[in-house]
Amino acid sequence: MVSSGVNFGLDLAEEIAELKRERNAVILAHNYQVPELQDIADYVGDSLGLSYQAAKTGAEVILFCGVHFMAETAKIINPSKRVLLPDLDAGCSLSESCPAEKLKAYLDQHADKNYYVIAYINCSAGVKALSDIICTSGNAEKIVRSASANRNILFVPDQNLGAWVIERTGRPMDLWQGNCYVHVEFTARSIGKIREEFPDAPVVAHPECPYAVRLLADEVCSTEKMVSFCRESPANAIIVVTEAGMLHRLHKEIPGKRFIPGPTERCACAECRFMKMNTLEKAHSALLNMEPEITLPEPLRKRAEAPILRMLELSK
Ligand code: 13P
Ligand code: SF4
Repeated sequence: MVSSGVNFGLDLAEEIAELKRERNAVILAHNYQVPELQDIADYVGDSLGLSYQAAKTGAEVILFCGVHFMAETAKIINPSKRVLLPDLDAGCSLSESCPAEKLKAYLDQHADKNYYVIAYINCSAGVKALSDIICTSGNAEKIVRSASANRNILFVPDQNLGAWVIERTGRPMDLWQGNCYVHVEFTARSIGKIREEFPDAPVVAHPECPYAVRLLADEVCSTEKMVSFCRESPANAIIVVTEAGMLHRLHKEIPGKRFIPGPTERCACAECRFMKMNTLEKAHSALLNMEPEITLPEPLRKRAEAPILRMLELSK
């Protein structure tokens, strides 16, 4: 029987584990989630890994500890499953920077370009439905390389990730002018300063960082690839330029090394207020009450599904 919500001596994490069994649920968590949520998850990873996990799960319920576009992506590819997000207001500045109506108007205005639209997964279902293919930071290079040479590419919504892929592939693309409010807080000065303090520590940075910061990095990659970079690096200390939640997983999986959070001009580390909206209490409440739940009109879901499936097929 499903627990009443009264705590009979069980702690919250144990109650969640029990509810998870009763609901036949799987818990997926992004690398930026608070440590307590990472610790109760069945899988912790980047957007690409989470999409694959969502695609292959046999569970009836997905409790998605991440932001809205991530849970929405899980729902798009799992229409018959119930997808819960601990806090429905956990949004994303990148997703907000590209409303579907604005993209539609832009595409109509530039119909002569016959754009092949590549959308970074950090966008709404409406934007996905207008796109030809989706990518994540983990496969963006591969997805762009796979595009026909005869097509004009419009890359939405992250100008920094888009610019990084242009640098890597040499493929020209028109870039939507969106960005992640967390990663643009890192500056060449803030990262230069920490480099001076730890001259032997390599710098690993997320591609959502601005060009001047990426220039200072020894490696630029998705959050999942940061784990393998840090594991394989011979260095004992590494400067990690991304959202600070990443450090929990690094400390847990690579216990012998020191991980230094990349500072911004204002703070010793950077936190995404959207990612931090999810808490253990909200996760418990979501599984107990089976809400907040992600729902989508079927025609929109279907249109948004095709470019995601194309991505999953291509980046296997
Ligand atoms: P990753 O897919 O690299 O984890 O990035 C997701 C994200 O939101 C970065 O800000
Ligand atoms: Fe969006 Fe940036 Fe937060 Fe990632 S860190 S969810 S891109 S606002």
